[in-house]
Amino acid sequence: MARRKLVAGNWKMNGSLAALAELDGIDAAARANPGVDVAICPPFTLIAPAVARAPGLPIGGQDCHAARCGAHTGCTSVELLREAGAALVIVGHSERRADQHETSEEVRGKAGAAIAGGLVAIVCVGETEAERDAGQALAVVERQLAESLPAGADAATLVVAYEPVWAIGTGRTPSCDDIACVHAALRARLRTLIGGEADGVRILYGGSVKPDNAAEILNLPDVDGALVGGASLTAAQFAPIIAACI
Ligand code: G3P
Repeated sequence: MARRKLVAGNWKMNGSLAALAELDGIDAAARANPGVDVAICPPFTLIAPAVARAPGLPIGGQDCHAARCGAHTGCTSVELLREAGAALVIVGHSERRADQHETSEEVRGKAGAAIAGGLVAIVCVGETEAERDAGQALAVVERQLAESLPAGADAATLVVAYEPVWAIGTGRTPSCDDIACVHAALRARLRTLIGGEADGVRILYGGSVKPDNAAEILNLPDVDGALVGGASLTAAQFAPIIAACI
C-alpha cells in the first residue's frame, strides 16, 4: 500500500517566539514538496503562535494527559491542545519514558485520548543501547508497541515512530539493514494488532536524522518518514530532509 511520507519535527524544549520565524522556511519547503506531509511539534506555549504564523502547517504537541480535565498540575489535555490549534501529538517519547517514568500503559491511555479527541497520535518506541547489545531490540520495541497501542487506532489516526534511544541526539544511527529490520518487525506486529489497517500506518524513523543521511534512511522499505529532533529547529536543516522524501 502506498503511504504518504511524513516528516515531523520535535522541537523538544527548544525554540522561542523569535524562532518561529523558522516556520516560514519550513512551510515553504512543505509547499515545495506537496507529496510529503510535514508537521512541527514545538513546546506547548508555542503551539498557538505557531499555528498563527504558519496556518497551513500541521502543528502538534509533545505530550498530552489521558484525562479530559481535572487536578493535574502542569499537564495539558487533548482538548486544550486542540483549542490551541494542534492537529497531532507525540506520546511515549523515550525522554518522557525515562524522565517522567511513563509506562507503556500510560502511553496507551494518552494515545487513546488523543485519537478519541481528534488528534493524530505519534506513538514512540525504541530500545536502549544495552537492550540492543543484549539482542533484545526487536522484542523490546514489539512489546512497547503492543502495550502502547490504544483501541480504535487505525491508519488515519495512528503513526508509529521507531526511535532507538542510543541514536537520539548522538549523531549515531543504526545501519540501514537494522532500521529496515525493525520497521518490518513493527509492521508485522501491527498486523497482528490491528489487522489490515497496519498496512496504511506510517512508521517513522527517529534518531540523528540529518540532511546527509536522510535520503538513505527515508528510502528504506517500511520507513514512511522521520521524526526529527535537532535538525528540525532550522529551515536550513529541515528543508533538505523534507526534500529527501522522493
Ligand atoms: O523525537 C525526535 C528525536 O528524539 C530525535 O532527536 O535530535 O536525534 O534528531 P534527534
